Amino acid sequence: MSDNVKTIGIIGGGQMGGGIAQVAAVSGLNAAVYDAAAGALEKAKALHGKLLNRAVEKERMTRAEADAALSRISYVDSLDALAGVDWVIEAVVEVASVKKELFSTLTRMFPDPRVVLATNTSSISITDIATAAGDEASQQRVVGMHFFNPVPVMKLVEVIPGLATSDDVVGRTVALAEAMGKTPLRANDRAGFVSNRVLMPMINEAFYAWMEGVAEPEAIDGIMKLGCAFPMGPLRLADFIGLDTCAHIMNVMADGLNNDRYRPCPLLKQLVTAGRLGNKTGRGVHDYTTQ
Ligand code: CAA
Ligand code: NAD
Repeated sequence: MSDNVKTIGIIGGGQMGGGIAQVAAVSGLNAAVYDAAAGALEKAKALHGKLLNRAVEKERMTRAEADAALSRISYVDSLDALAGVDWVIEAVVEVASVKKELFSTLTRMFPDPRVVLATNTSSISITDIATAAGDEASQQRVVGMHFFNPVPVMKLVEVIPGLATSDDVVGRTVALAEAMGKTPLRANDRAGFVSNRVLMPMINEAFYAWMEGVAEPEAIDGIMKLGCAFPMGPLRLADFIGLDTCAHIMNVMADGLNNDRYRPCPLLKQLVTAGRLGNKTGRGVHDYTTQ
């Protein structure tokens, strides 16, 4: 691409960071992934191998292309090892304080003003995250670059400028998303943006329907799949996203939009408290331990 972005540094190698790295590498970019938790990088690496093997089996790419893509991904166990990247995408847990602490170090780590500091946040104010990056010039290069799960499959990148984000950075974010084979669509910086403003209350309502005994999870999911042509029911989708992430997003919207109707359903909160976070822990609404 004309922008000369060659290497993306990805902070957080969970399901989103791992997916972003894979898509970047398949598009011909280098991706360096950092995660703070032991085990996350091994998991991401194993999944990359598995998914690219499947792409070869399905004849969507040659073995040589898959190997070349895999060789473009590096897995690093320190933030400092990301020095020299051209673009940063943060994909850590959906908690403003954690993201802001990171962004307070990123401007110093990446002093080159051409390095864009993007966040994959689902709901948190880009303007708020940018304040942690420092002065106005630093805030100009902070942008929301919101990929969807599973990243290799979903076509959208929601692009969200904060109050200080420069037009140049927005334009470059759109160009990078397109270079990664995605369709960028813009949204304004309000809690939950468009995607989760619309999706997450529906998921939360499905928890209320379950809690109030309107139907059991299988029926709730089945009704929405068969009756509304959803690819997966809302409770199954919540497990897929991560129940912790769903609860965080609801709380961000309740705080950011000044409205308690966005608070997470008590049953959703209870499952999170019990550590039943969905696919990533093996159990959420549904049980995945026997699959
Ligand atoms: N990573 C990579 N690829 C995956 C994948 C994953 N986790 N899960 C499935 N796929 C791929 C499969 O490899 C398969 O590709 P091939 O046909 O080439 O093998 C393809 O997706 C279809 O998979 P399956 O046939 O196994 O299953 P499916 O037809 O039921 O599709 C699905 C799976 C794509 C996940 C589909 O169920 C779906 O679209 N679900 C809804 C997903 C969705 O709504 N995502 C948005 C979540 S909200 C969000 O992301 C924003 C946020 O901030 C929370
Ligand atoms: P995840 O739990 O799968 O992964 C998060 C990773 O971040 C973990 O591996 C964790 O070890 C790591 N991490 C946490 N704090 C860190 C830090 N300070 N430094 C480095 N690594 C750290 O979560 P996810 O589903 O990949 O979500 C990540 C981000 O993407 C969140 O902001 C979430 O809202 C957003 N998002 C999620 C989805 C989804 O469907 N899950 C979709 C779009 C956007």
